[in-house]
Amino acid sequence: MSKLHRNIFLNLLLALNRVFIDKLRASKVLINIIDTNSKWGKRDRAIIYDAFYSIIRWKKKFEFYLNEKINLNIESDIIKLIGVWAILNKFKIDIHPELCELNQKLIITNSKKKIIKNSIINSIPKWIDNIGLKELPDTWNEEMKSLNSKAKVSIRVNTLKISRKKLQEILLKKYSIVTEKILKYPDALILIKKKNILKNFLFNKGYFEIQDANSQLIAPYLECKPEMTVIDACAGAGGKSLHLSTIMKNKGEIIAMDINPNKLKELKKRMERNNIKIIKPKLVKDKEILKKYYSFADRVIIDAPCSGIGTLKRNPELKWKLKKNSFKKLLKKQKKIIDTYSKLVKAKGKLIYSTCSILPSENHKQIRKFLKTKNGSKFELEHEIFHSTINSNFDGFYCARLSKKIVDK
Ligand SMILES: C[S@@+](CC[C@H](N)C(=O)[O-])C[C@H]1O[C@@H](n2cnc3c(N)ncnc32)[C@H](O)[C@@H]1O
Repeated sequence: MSKLHRNIFLNLLLALNRVFIDKLRASKVLINIIDTNSKWGKRDRAIIYDAFYSIIRWKKKFEFYLNEKINLNIESDIIKLIGVWAILNKFKIDIHPELCELNQKLIITNSKKKIIKNSIINSIPKWIDNIGLKELPDTWNEEMKSLNSKAKVSIRVNTLKISRKKLQEILLKKYSIVTEKILKYPDALILIKKKNILKNFLFNKGYFEIQDANSQLIAPYLECKPEMTVIDACAGAGGKSLHLSTIMKNKGEIIAMDINPNKLKELKKRMERNNIKIIKPKLVKDKEILKKYYSFADRVIIDAPCSGIGTLKRNPELKWKLKKNSFKKLLKKQKKIIDTYSKLVKAKGKLIYSTCSILPSENHKQIRKFLKTKNGSKFELEHEIFHSTINSNFDGFYCARLSKKIVDK
C-alpha cells in the first residue's frame, strides 16, 4: 500500500472544491493546480489526474459504495469521495485525519456488489439517465460507457501559418511531442501522451489551437468559400469562427456574435494569436441589433448552447451541473435562437445548426420542429450528421445544414 501524500490530498481537495463548489471548469482547474505545483514529478501528476477525473466521473457510484448521498456543495462530503477513491486504489489513508471515520470495510464490500440501478452504473443523475433511455433506447448505455472513458487531446493546425506535416515534425523534433494524424480530419493532430501544450511557443504564436477532432468537422460542413459573408451566431470564444477563417483563407467577413462579452474578449485574443483579420466580434445586447442583418449572410452557423452531454469525456462535471429545470429552459432557448438567427440567412444561403449533445430533443427534433414554423418553411433540410461517442475518442455532436429556398420580400 502506498501513501497518499498530504500535499496531494490537499491539492486534490482544493481542485475538487473549485469544480463542485465554485463551479469552475474541471479542465482549467486541473491545469492551474498542476501549474502551481511545478515541483510535482510524473507520478504525482498522474495520481492527481486520475483521482480528480475518477472522482468527478464516478461520484454516483462512489455514493453507492459509501451507502450515502453526497452533497457536492459541502467540503466534508467531497472529502468522503476522495476517501473512496483512495481506498479503491489501495492508498493508505490513516495520515489524513479527515478520512479516519470512513468505513473502509463497507466501501470495499459495496464495491464488490453487483449494481442493478442503471443511473448508478452510468454514474449520472437519474433524470438525465431517464431522458437518455427514453430518447436513445438502443444505444444510451453504450454511449454512457464511452462517455465515462478518457478523451484524447486533439489540436487543430492553423493552416494559414503552417502545414500539418511541418507542425507535426517540429513538435516532435523540437519539443518531443508525439502526435498522430487521423483519417478524415485534415487539420487535426492527436497527442499520443497528455501534455500541457498551452505554454508551448508554437501555441502562443498561433500555429495551432486545442480543439476536439469531431468539433473540427463542423466548419468544413458550412461549405464556405473565401469572400463569403458568414454569421457565427453563438460564437463564444470562437472555436468555429477561427477554423472558418482558415477555410476562407482570411478573406471575406465573419461576424462573430454572442451575448457574453467575456467570451468575445477571449475570441479577440485568439484572433490576434492566430493572425485572423476577417472576424468581427459583435456583442448581441438585444434582438434589435439583429434587424440590420436580416437576409444578410451567405452562411449562418448556430452552434447552440446545449447540455454538452456529447463532451462528458472531456467535461464530466457537466452532468452534475445540469439541472432538470434548466434543461427544459435550454430546449426552449434553442428553439428561440434557431427562429431568431435563421432570419439572418440570405436567399439561397445556408443555415447550419450544431450542438455537442447526443440527445435527439436538442438535435433532430429541434430541426424538425423549426421546419414546421413560419420561418422554418423558407428552408429545406439538405443534410444532417450525428456523431455517436461509441467507439470514438472524441466528442459526440450533431449538425444539420438547411438551405433557404424563398427570396424574402
Ligand atoms: C456552444 S457555445 C459556442 C461555442 C463556440 N461556437 C465555439 O466553437 O467555441 C454557445 C454560445 O452561445 C452563446 N449564446 C447563448 N444565447 C445566445 C443568444 N441568444 N445569442 C447569441 N449567443 C448566445 C453562449 O454565450 C455561448 O458562448
